Amino acid sequence: MRKTLLAANWKMNKTAAEAISWLNDFYGMAAEKAAEKDLVEVAVCAPFTALYALYQERQRLGAVMGLGAQNIFWQEKGAFTGEISAAMLQEFQTKYVICGHSERRVLLQESSEMVSRKCGAAVNAGMTPIICVGESISVRRGGLLRQWLEAQLYESLSFWDNQQEIVVAYEPVWAIGTKQAATTADAQEACGYIRQILRERAGDIADDIRILYGGGVTPENISGLLICDDVDGALVGGSSLDAAAFDKIVMAAVE
Ligand code: PGA
Repeated sequence: MRKTLLAANWKMNKTAAEAISWLNDFYGMAAEKAAEKDLVEVAVCAPFTALYALYQERQRLGAVMGLGAQNIFWQEKGAFTGEISAAMLQEFQTKYVICGHSERRVLLQESSEMVSRKCGAAVNAGMTPIICVGESISVRRGGLLRQWLEAQLYESLSFWDNQQEIVVAYEPVWAIGTKQAATTADAQEACGYIRQILRERAGDIADDIRILYGGGVTPENISGLLICDDVDGALVGGSSLDAAAFDKIVMAAVE
């Protein structure tokens, strides 16, 4: 059984004070209670600068929501100005690390080889990478969706020994930031390909791996995405910034 995971990706939004305020709002809502009852898993991938504040506030409240980071560096320590290590994230009980988001792949030229090294650092420290893959509109129009996903996954997973826990997020670049998610059929097709590719690589273990859909998820379209056989949750950007909207998204997964 793959437990549904709703992960917020705040991107470069929210100061520590704003993060605390969001958590206090969210804590009183239905989603936190559903997560307490283990009906669904919820995580927030926050900017590094808000993680410590969230960690402390979560402890104070006794909230169950998981914490995630949006990046990691593969070296343990040393002369890597501006980077953040696995140990630094673990200090705040960070459970997830988003690796290879398309914004980093495109804006910062992060390659799949770099993504794999980052994922390796996360799993070696006992954290779970949320590995993002997804095609541009030109790749899709060119009929190259499966090949694209296969190449991205193959290279981003070179660290993987088929055993460590991973989460894959399918995020079509053309849907990110639009509030216009992929259709149910398109989401299922791509997530189905991803499961097939994982099966070719790791056999039946593919059935245990959670595949999230991300890109334009809203409280209005989430239900249509979660009915897909191979969609096990969502990575939610813009709609997660408002606690009430994210609560609605989580509750749609519970219902
Ligand atoms: P969005 O972002 O929900 O704002 O489209 C999702 C993501 O990029 O992870």
